[in-house]
Amino acid sequence: MKLFETAIKENIETEEQNKNNFLQDVIAGLRQHPKHLQSKYFYDQRGDTLFQEIMNLPEYYLTRCEMDIFENKTAEIAAGINAAQTPFDLIELGAGDASKSMHLLRYLKNELTDFRYMPIDISGNILSVLDEKLKKNIPGLDILCLEGEYFDMLYKAAQLSSRRKVILFLGSNIGNMELEEAYRFCFELRKNLNKGDIVMIGFDLKKEPNTILNAYNDAKGVTASFNLNLLERINKELKADFKVDKFEHYETYDPLSGACRSYLISLEDQKVSIDDAVFHFAENEAVYMEVSQKFSIEDTEKMAAQSGFTQVYSIKDSKEWFVDAFWKAV
Ligand code: AVJ
Repeated sequence: MKLFETAIKENIETEEQNKNNFLQDVIAGLRQHPKHLQSKYFYDQRGDTLFQEIMNLPEYYLTRCEMDIFENKTAEIAAGINAAQTPFDLIELGAGDASKSMHLLRYLKNELTDFRYMPIDISGNILSVLDEKLKKNIPGLDILCLEGEYFDMLYKAAQLSSRRKVILFLGSNIGNMELEEAYRFCFELRKNLNKGDIVMIGFDLKKEPNTILNAYNDAKGVTASFNLNLLERINKELKADFKVDKFEHYETYDPLSGACRSYLISLEDQKVSIDDAVFHFAENEAVYMEVSQKFSIEDTEKMAAQSGFTQVYSIKDSKEWFVDAFWKAV
């Protein structure tokens, strides 16, 4: 009983902490010039649903491309992570529903590979659904879910076993970081690994610019709703009064830098209160929302080299629009 109460209390405390971080980040972001909101906050319950919808859009090719790799090039992936060699911990950052990695897990299991799957996610809810699904679909799978921040859980994984590590960071999630942030992330990742460990990262490739732009500017307006939903979320969770229909989604893609960026444009001169703060939005003022960075193969090799890895292998989908790169810690 005592233990249970402590667990509940800790849960409430982290929930309050999360809410406070959210509020502080929103206020700090809107005090910046240009105003900025962080896309990591897109994913409340409605945001999760909208992202699922995005993945099913005809314009949004990314998920299908990486799925093509996991379904049709599974043996190459296994080779890329040296699956037939020594036993390893297979750690997935932000596993979600693991719909892609599931193909790899099944393949490895069939090959009698000695490994433990360790999905990391900040959502305990997602992990318990995943745990149940995988145990049912892949009988005998050795799985241990780690709930928390990526680097805290990588540290924990290192304490739990001395086996070599293979890290999965899929879906071009790395693209949601500004480039300097992505470099720092990879450097930090390297610090949590040992020489010889392997990282498999999904990168969306630079390609015909309209193909990219359309993926983030879909005809049905689902991506627009996905961005606008953050304003709804702020209204609900942070006592704010955004008039959501007074903002419009605007998407850009710069073929030189490879940055695809989304903005919300204020359609009139207006004031918005959030908690105790008031913010002024000029007519046509842009709030910067999200970057989805695109890469060339040279970009990914450079990023590996500058953060303590070397790119040893890569697999593209049949269209050559997406790449899964394999980095070895040096
Ligand atoms: C979650 C990073 C894969 O940037 O492509 C999709 C998020 N944003 N449409 C991406 C997103 C708008 C997505 N990732």
